[in-house]
Order: sequence, then structure tokens, then C-alpha cells
Amino acid sequence: MSQPSSFPDRASAVASLSAPATPVSQPAVETIAILDCGAQYTKVIDRRIRALKVATEIVPVTVDPETLRGQVSGIILSGGPHSVYDADAPRCHPGIFDLGVPVLGICYGMQLITQHFGGSVAGHQRREYGETTIQVDSQCPLFAGMDTDQQVLMSHGDSVTRLAEGFTRVAHSTATLPDGSPVPAAIEHAQRRVYGLQFHPEVELTEQGETMLANFLYKICGLTGNFLLDDRLERTLASIRQQVGASPVVVLVSGGVDSSVTAALLLRALGPDQVYAVHVDSGFMRQQESDDVCQALQALGLKHLKRLNAETDFLNASTTLDDGTVAGPLTTVTDPEAKRRIIGDVFFRLVETEMRQLFDTLAQDTQQPVFLAQGTLRPDLIESGNRDVSHTAHKIKTHHNDVPLIQAQRERGLVVEPNRDWHKDEVRQIGRLLGLPEPLVIRQPFPGPGLAIRVLCATEPYGLETYEQTNQQLQALVQQLSQAAGVSGYRALLVPVRTVGVQGDGRSYSYLALLSHKNLFEQAPDYRLLQHFAQEIPNQLNSINRIALVLNADTDPLPERLPAITPTHLTPPVVQQLRALDHQVTQTLVEANHHAHISQLLTVLVPISPNPASPTQALPASEPRHRSVAIRAVITSDFMTARPVRLGTAEMPYATLQTLCQRLTARPDVGWVMIDITGKPPATVEWE
Ligand code: XMP
Repeated sequence: MSQPSSFPDRASAVASLSAPATPVSQPAVETIAILDCGAQYTKVIDRRIRALKVATEIVPVTVDPETLRGQVSGIILSGGPHSVYDADAPRCHPGIFDLGVPVLGICYGMQLITQHFGGSVAGHQRREYGETTIQVDSQCPLFAGMDTDQQVLMSHGDSVTRLAEGFTRVAHSTATLPDGSPVPAAIEHAQRRVYGLQFHPEVELTEQGETMLANFLYKICGLTGNFLLDDRLERTLASIRQQVGASPVVVLVSGGVDSSVTAALLLRALGPDQVYAVHVDSGFMRQQESDDVCQALQALGLKHLKRLNAETDFLNASTTLDDGTVAGPLTTVTDPEAKRRIIGDVFFRLVETEMRQLFDTLAQDTQQPVFLAQGTLRPDLIESGNRDVSHTAHKIKTHHNDVPLIQAQRERGLVVEPNRDWHKDEVRQIGRLLGLPEPLVIRQPFPGPGLAIRVLCATEPYGLETYEQTNQQLQALVQQLSQAAGVSGYRALLVPVRTVGVQGDGRSYSYLALLSHKNLFEQAPDYRLLQHFAQEIPNQLNSINRIALVLNADTDPLPERLPAITPTHLTPPVVQQLRALDHQVTQTLVEANHHAHISQLLTVLVPISPNPASPTQALPASEPRHRSVAIRAVITSDFMTARPVRLGTAEMPYATLQTLCQRLTARPDVGWVMIDITGKPPATVEWE
């Protein structure tokens, strides 16, 4: 491919590429230091580098260079929220650039490099946010083997306005500086092996970002990728043995992959005699979940397992809320926060009592200190500012199961965290290496309160005083949006139930709206249009925070109005109904191979029916098709924001949705089947 004319001649600089300024000795495990300038993406950089089989150390940007000498083979300066000219802007020690190892600055890191070497950085009129096409110089080793045009994620206000001496511009976008020259999107000082990227190679929106990072590691730092999972597993096992010695270890297994892998690691490291597992079945677990996790661990040799079948304790529980009122028993409560509170409190009480007994018995029997194992992952430690990982002291995140007993263990240094070296995807790989069954290994995140917050509970329709007016506004808006987009066949219905959202500054708890399209599966509307509806409706009608597309509206058309609901509470048959539906949804997507790329898949029971007894009268729960089911499938890396899967693409083809719809509507207890098409914001991932 020809070199674009906008790149200056760089032949002389390239000539000395293979001769680093100062030779360095290569450490045994190839390691990159990530100097943390405060970016939310630091943990993503960490994950990407580790996935490329190179170890990482996250250190503060102010790290003393001498502590890195001979220890690391390259340095990455992360992005950060500051401007390099801010008085409190994080700065690195100048000696970082004299260690003789290559340096890559990302976003803020590139600006820091420019400032250090005497170039200029400034805020300019055109900020760049979002996916951008840039032109790269494929002669630059960072972009080796790539096409000139690259899709990247830009997110910067400041730009490099004048390159420092010795640097060349090796990528640019269409954005220009006041003098008309392109804003640098990447810079290179080939002789010093110092590079800068204005965009974020670590995120998925930068399509070839992984190759760029691989080029930095392998072509520029000269690494081979010797940080291998098998070796890391061996090191983790050795470190568990060293920390725990002959002591007993207690582990709480929730059913999720993190705690299952923790238990499996302990079993492999210590053998079955020292490992004591406790599992609480709250009655709100997914299908077979408690059985699966207990059996899988027993198959790995677990001997000491205490399973608490606590469904009745949970259903009968009450608790005192902050305002002094008593909420409960759980089977009568409809407010989501009160449900959460009751479930959290019972869990605490049960775990505290059971574990205290177990700890006392074990301490007496063995005359050894008793350890507690937790499934904490590396990104949790990065986030909570653990010194071993990030060296920066941020607020420590509290664990939802940090009962006083566990806190006391932590203070005595008796907590072991075998997953501390792994990111989530690595935990799954380790789980496989240890022989955990695949369904357990691929299990998605699941909230503590479980299925209890996926049954929308209600005794009467919500918001009837504003229902008629908002329903009319909704229908008029959908007509108007359809006309503006030149499409037809859409209908909408306001539903008198509410779900949780994040709108403006805080949490909202308001109306759900349904959307339908005539001949949905033949017409296969473009996801971008659906996305437009799902953005515009809550934008223009603030009391709506969630939109779901109905999949079976051809057989059960949306009525003009529906001011009725099916009274619903958390009773065992209702939870069982949701559990069965959730299982069917998950199985269908696993079979269709559309499960692995979904960050979280949930099934929600919605207390509405397409054939209510009368338009204003509640339908008795004994009637067929008395409740509806919603599917939520989101893609996200941090769960702070999320987007729904794109319907009609490989992420969620309409044919798969049709199969899902057919299977679910074949059941006598299902009315409408719908898929949530709302992003977060304005809707949360969970409906409650
Ligand atoms: P939201 O609904 O806030 O969810 O967008 C973001 C992530 O958090 C999980 N989640 C919970 N996890 N207890 C938990 O342990 C809870 O009460 C809870 N609420 C939400 C949710 O499943 C998603 O992964």
C-alpha cells in the first residue's frame, strides 16, 4: 500500500529503529508497566495486554523510574481526565524516558509525551468524541500490516498542536488545527521508540486496536508473549499453598463463575480436606443452579459442603426499613428496593450465623487459624485501589457479603483471594483448565437478589391518573416519528407497570411502553430505527423510561389502551414460572449460538396480559396467558452503561427471535413476548 502523502518522510528515523537508546536486560516474565493517569480505561488496557500474553504492573504515573529499571520491557502511559496544563495534572518522572524501553502514550499519555519533549498541546475548537475514521501510516511499526483507513474511538478535548522535536505524525483524522494542518492522531519518535496514540486502542470500538497493541508489544518492545495461562495457574496454586499452609479455608459459593473457580482453585491447591464450602439457595436461583454448582464442585473432589436450602426463610422474611416501617413478609412486598433490602438482610443473617459456627468448630478442631476465600477479581482490585494492583489509594469497594465476621477475617489477614490475578475472561479459561463444566464456566453475572428482582410485582395498575393522556401522547409520538422516518406499521401502547431507569441525575421508576411492528419477522426493521424510537420516546415523554418490542403482536395485536394488570407477588409458583421461562430463553440462545457475546441476558416476568378479563379489570392469575415475558440482552464492558443487542444483525437475528417467540408462546402461561430495546441510560440493565 502506498504511503499517504500527508505523512512526512520518515526513512531516516526508521533506520535506527532496531537500536534502542540504552540496551536493557529482558526480565524473565515479560512485563509492561502501565502508568495510571486516572483513566477509567486503565483496567481495559490491563486486560488487553494480559490477553496478549504479557504481564502488567499498574503503577502510579509518578512512579520512581528506578523501581522499574530491569523489571519491565515497555511502558504505557494511560489516558486520564485531565489537561496537561491543569495545575493538578498527573505527571510522570522525566527519567521514565531514559530507561531505554519503548513508551506508548494513550490519549492523555500522548499529550504528556508531547509536553515532556517540548511540543505543544491545546484545547481547540473541534473536540473529537466517538467513532472516527483516521488515516494511518502503515510504515510505522504500530500500524504494520494495516489498511490506511482505520476506525478508532476518539475521546479528547485537548490536542497536540505542535509536535516535539524528533517526532513525526503517523496518523491523523479529518480534524484540523487553526493553521489548517491535520490534528495528529498518532506520533512516533522511532529512535527513542516513543509512540503516542490520541485515540483508545484498548476499546472494541477501535477495530484494529488489539493489533496495534500487539505491534507495540511484539514489534516495538520485541516481546514474545511468555505470560502463559498454564504457568500463571501454577503460580497461583503455589501462592495459595504458601499463604494458607495447613489451615482450613471456608468459601462461600454463590453459583457464579467467580466463586466456583475460587473453590476449584482451592481444591486443586490444597486438596479436599482443607476446603469447606457453604452455599445458600435463596429460592431465587436460576434453573438447576444450586444443584449444578454443588455437583460440579463435588465432582472436583469437594467433601465438605454445607448447602442451606433457605427458600422459606427468604419468602417469610421481613425487615425494618430506614423510615422505621416494617416491610414484609417478602411474599407481600411490591417495592423493588424493599425486596432487595429484605433479601440482603436475610442473606447477611444466615451467612453470619452459619459461618460463625463453622469457623468456631474448625478453629477448635484444627487448632489453626481459619481462612476465608473470596472470588475477588483483578478489575475489582484495580477499581478499589488495592495497593498490589493499582498502587493508588481510592475508596475500597465493599463487598455485598462483607458481614462483620468477614470484615474481622480481613483485619486479621485471613482472607485469601485466589482470583486476584485474573480478569473475568481469564477466570472462565481457568475454570475450564480446572475441569468445571462449560455451563458453569460461561454463566453470566447474576444479581444477589436473583430472580426476585425479575418478577415485576404489583397489586394494581400504576399511574392510572396520567395513563390515558400519556398513552395518547405516546401513540401520537410514534406516528410522528414513523412519518418523519418514512416508515409505517408501528404501534405503541403504554403499560401501567413501572420499571427502574437512570434519567438525568438519578434513578427513575416509571412507565414501560410497548412497540410493535406489523409482520415483524418478514419486515425485519433495522436496529438503528428501533434505537431511534427507543431514544426519542423517553427523551420526549419523560415519564417513560423503557421500551420493549413485542414479538407476537401479529397474533396478539396491541390494544388502544390497557389500564389493567395481573396481580403478582413473589410466591413460589410465580418464581417457578419465571425460572422455567428464563431457562427456555437461555437454552434457545445457547443452541442458536447467540449467548456467548451477550454480556448479560435476563428474562423478566411482566404482570400484563393481551387478554385481560375486561379492559379495566384485573385478570386472575389462574387464567391462561396471564403474564407476559420480556427478554433483555445487553452488551457492555462495565455495566455503567449498556446497549441492547442489535436486532437483525449477527448479534440477534430475527430468525432466532422468532424461534424464541414460538417456543415461549407455546406455553399456556405466556401472553406477550417482548425484547427490551432500551439502552442504559435511560433504562437500567435490570428492570427493577
Ligand atoms: P443495573 O440494573 O443497575 O445493573 O443497570 C448493573 C449490573 O448490576 C447488577 N445488579 C445487582 N447486583 N445486587 C447485585 O448483586 C443488586 O441488587 C443488583 N442490581 C443490579 C445487574 O445484574 C447488572 O449486572
